[in-house]
Amino acid sequence: MRLILLGPPGAGKGTQAAGIVERYNIPHISTGDIFRKNIQEGTTLGKKAKEYMDQGLLVPDDVVVAIVEERLKEADCAKGFLLDGFPRTVKQAEALDEALAGMNASLDKAINVTVDKNVLIERAVGRRICKACGATYHIKFHPPSKDGICDKCGGSLYQRADDNEETVTKRIEVYLKETQPLIDYYKQRNILVTIDGEQDISKVFEDIVAALGA
Ligand code: AP5
Ligand code: ZN
Repeated sequence: MRLILLGPPGAGKGTQAAGIVERYNIPHISTGDIFRKNIQEGTTLGKKAKEYMDQGLLVPDDVVVAIVEERLKEADCAKGFLLDGFPRTVKQAEALDEALAGMNASLDKAINVTVDKNVLIERAVGRRICKACGATYHIKFHPPSKDGICDKCGGSLYQRADDNEETVTKRIEVYLKETQPLIDYYKQRNILVTIDGEQDISKVFEDIVAALGA
């Protein structure tokens, strides 16, 4: 299955991605995670991406597209993939279509997770992530059993540098301007499914599985 996950910052894309890739046994490709790993490792790409991410702006299309094109060539993508946080602009969507056409492939579904703007800020600001395994928590909506400690692996939890109110507000603005047009882009191609992301995490997942029809 070849899938993309669309939705504003804090909609629950990463949270749902974890369950989707397990169920359908496909790789999870999160451009945000790729950039954060590069920032942590201090690579040239990481330094460049950080300048944009810290301001809540998008990393330039050519940089992101090159990374995704390379990743899609890896062997594990032959069985499908879940792209999380890509594409984010019409240019990226067109580049993805072209890359897939070159592989004689196309997308099966674009999953659009919708959440109201005022809920997004609370979600992003309260988010905590495990340093060791990447699992996502929320101090109010999905707290770990022990404060600051991951339930899955015992790793310590941290807060993303771009999860402060000011940067989240900027990220939402950028989403509305640059990424929201993709909803029509995929609607016109008849592969858009829209999921109410304001329900419980497990209900959102149920709806996604039902929409994928498997
Ligand atoms: P990225 O890492 O992709 O961030 P994002 O799109 O802003 O999305 P988030 O990770 O913030 O949210 P999410 O939807 O995954 O929510 P989550 O599941 O964690 O991108 C970061 C930056 O990288 C960008 O700003 C840009 O600079 C750059 N970048 C990345 N890709 C790019 C691209 N293609 N082009 C250009 N630049 C790019 O959930 C949020 C919180 O809510 C969590 O705490 C969670 O526990 C909680 N939660 C989740 N679901 C529910 C629920 N149903 N009910 C209650 N709480 C919930
Ligand atoms: Zn963990």
